Amino acid sequence: MKDRVCVVTGGNAGIGRAMVQALAQQQAQVVLISRDKVRGETAVQEIRHSLPQAQIELVVGDVGSVASTHQLAQTLLDRCPQIHVLINNAGIWPTKKRLNVDGLEEGFMVNHLAPFMLNQLLQERLKASAPARIVNVSAGLYVNGRVDLQKTPYGHDFHPIRTYASTKLCNVLCLPLEAARLADSGVTINAVHPGVINTKLGTMRGPLGWLMKLVKRSWATPEQGAIAPVWLATAPELVNTNGRYFNEKEEIPIGEIASNAELAAQLWQLSTQLGKL
Ligand SMILES: NC(=O)c1ccc[n+]([C@@H]2O[C@H](COP(=O)([O-])OP(=O)(O)OC[C@H]3O[C@@H](n4cnc5c(N)ncnc54)[C@H](OP(=O)(O)O)[C@@H]3O)[C@@H](O)[C@H]2O)c1
Repeated sequence: MKDRVCVVTGGNAGIGRAMVQALAQQQAQVVLISRDKVRGETAVQEIRHSLPQAQIELVVGDVGSVASTHQLAQTLLDRCPQIHVLINNAGIWPTKKRLNVDGLEEGFMVNHLAPFMLNQLLQERLKASAPARIVNVSAGLYVNGRVDLQKTPYGHDFHPIRTYASTKLCNVLCLPLEAARLADSGVTINAVHPGVINTKLGTMRGPLGWLMKLVKRSWATPEQGAIAPVWLATAPELVNTNGRYFNEKEEIPIGEIASNAELAAQLWQLSTQLGKL
């Protein structure tokens, strides 16, 4: 991976941070995206402490709104003449319904619309840098999602557990269409469930929060969660693998719920419109 430019959204914490470290260990030039400057700088410093040779550049960027995602894409285009790997990792588990400035439910924005937008907005740069790869960090829970295009983007069907699954389902629904558009371009896109990992995802206050904290202690580490996404981003044997879904390192068929071509086409159209693409 020497001198390959790898962009990781949500690179300041959890699985994203572990991916930044693993890619830097492979001598990649890593662009760590963090929505918070101080959290981003702290992550860079901590990684450099254990890996002094690490080539990491911090880009402050928020994928929480349409405008800020456009701004992040523009910053990346301005600062990165080449992009070989884009890992859409930033994600949230919204336990309360919150709408962003666009009137979109936050989970829909961060987990689905932002990666969809970045994939489109950075596509030409990725093609010009080919061979290049996009890795969407998905979640196996997408199979429990339910997508209603009149409701889900706006949180009208918000549910503290199902919404996370539904927003991840949106992302998997678009995968075959994105892969088809990239076919023969030298750019591939694949999705991966990283495992069940002890991070701050979905952290809650109160007794349930404390209980979850205890339960999470038995889950795998962020470093273990980084293994499969980094493998998808780097493994030579996957250079032509496109449009596939992986449960950690095992390729599995996309579930029936995400194989609704009509819904996917409608979601594509809506996402293009909502993302002002
Ligand atoms: N943990 C698991 O068991 C698990 C399982 C399946 C899938 N996943 C997926 O793995 C990915 C990483 O999650 P994680 O477990 O590592 O969670 P995490 O520790 O909470 O990290 C999430 C990252 O996303 C960033 N982020 C959230 N909203 C953002 C925004 N608006 N703009 C920019 N960055 C934003 C966070 O930044 P801040 O630090 O500023 O909040 C953080 O860096 C997610 O897509 C998640 O859905 C995780």
